[in-house]
Amino acid sequence: MPELSRRKILIAGGALGAAGALGGLGAMPPVMARPQWSWTAAMSVAGGSGTGIDPQWLWDDEVDSLMAAVIDRGDVPLVNQHLETWTRNDQPVPDGLPADVKNWMNRARALPDWVDHGKLRAAADFNKSRGILLNLCNGPGGGMLSTAIPREARAVYYSKGGADMEDRVAKTSILGFSVGDLNAYQPDGDCIVQAVKTRMVHASVRHLLPQSPHWTETSGGQKIPISIADVLVTWHSLPTWTMQKLLEWDVRMTTEESEGYLHSWQVTAHMLGVPDEYIPGSWDAANLQSKQIFDPVLGPTSEGVILTDILLGQLAEQTSPGSLSRPAVNALARFLVGDKIADWDGIPREPFWESAIRAVWPAFIRLREGAIRLPLVPSLAWAIDEAARNYLMFYLTKGQGTHISIPDTNRTF
Ligand code: HEM
Repeated sequence: MPELSRRKILIAGGALGAAGALGGLGAMPPVMARPQWSWTAAMSVAGGSGTGIDPQWLWDDEVDSLMAAVIDRGDVPLVNQHLETWTRNDQPVPDGLPADVKNWMNRARALPDWVDHGKLRAAADFNKSRGILLNLCNGPGGGMLSTAIPREARAVYYSKGGADMEDRVAKTSILGFSVGDLNAYQPDGDCIVQAVKTRMVHASVRHLLPQSPHWTETSGGQKIPISIADVLVTWHSLPTWTMQKLLEWDVRMTTEESEGYLHSWQVTAHMLGVPDEYIPGSWDAANLQSKQIFDPVLGPTSEGVILTDILLGQLAEQTSPGSLSRPAVNALARFLVGDKIADWDGIPREPFWESAIRAVWPAFIRLREGAIRLPLVPSLAWAIDEAARNYLMFYLTKGQGTHISIPDTNRTF
């Protein structure tokens, strides 16, 4: 395994040993085995029609072949040059793109016929008032979960973006922030753009990673990465897990807000290429699917431990000279994801900060929930959250900005 410092091997070994599961670094955790697929299309946004195929055997065929061809014929720089100029939902696909790419993008940008703009407006209101909690769950929370999803941790670690995690986090945040934006799927928003680009990146990774000996050695027999089941697993680490946390913290919300939030992520799953028959149609359906495909696949990997260490280091740097030291960041991460996942991620124990966070958290939520009902507070909260997002992007990209672009190689060691 490349680039493992002695200290990180020790941390990783501790995390893997704590799981009591593994013979050696890099081995595939047995937790990858999951029960047979039994979730039915009746629970999906498609409402009953579907093939019933286990999505671990599905990828995204048309765009996968397209991006393989784009990479093999050397068109990635040309495609990236034009993708950079495509920034708004209502903007035509750039003319200079190769005809086959343009043709596919013109179809892929269409919103599903079940999109409900009323629900998306409710999602925007929810994002406006609860942005900080949603960003905390989807950002540091989702990040710490993603490193405990072995397939995702390894795909990220061995792909091109794994070499520069600041850029990688900034790029991933582009889509995360875009989903939460007040105009995400409006003509002047950019969520369609970012989701279509991401779908193209995933298709490219499916062509590239199988050429990486590091990935094939650790893929546990998976021949092509990022199956539709894998995408659903990551999806559950975002809205499903976030909603579970908000409920655990007694964050009050209306049915419209809760359904609107789900809807914004249902539309996003569709735009990322998940067939409708697999997109949960309700929170109950999401929780059930999550139990079946998300819970059983979490586990420790040495790649996940290293990525966690990098991500938490970045978070500590971003918040200084403000407030949070690395021990406080460690404790916050552990508080968010719980001890089991924190141990898998190799997050060190911080007794002082852990009890401090546990003690103040209920008061923080009560204060926030009480204040949010006062006039002007949602708008003010949004302005503060927006400033934090801009700061994060500025920090991560060193003031240069970034955009989602197609990789043409794997990570080199
Ligand atoms: C790239 C989001 C699922 C692995 C990206 C990007 C975004 C994104 C925004 C573009 C940023 C970049 O280029 O670095 C998502 C979302 C998912 C999802 C929202 C599910 C809802 C997955 C899964 C895997 C995965 C399941 C692996 C098992 C990757 C990799 C890259 C990538 C390897 C490219 C890194 C590079 O070479 O630069 N993803 N992703 N993603 N994603 Fe995903």
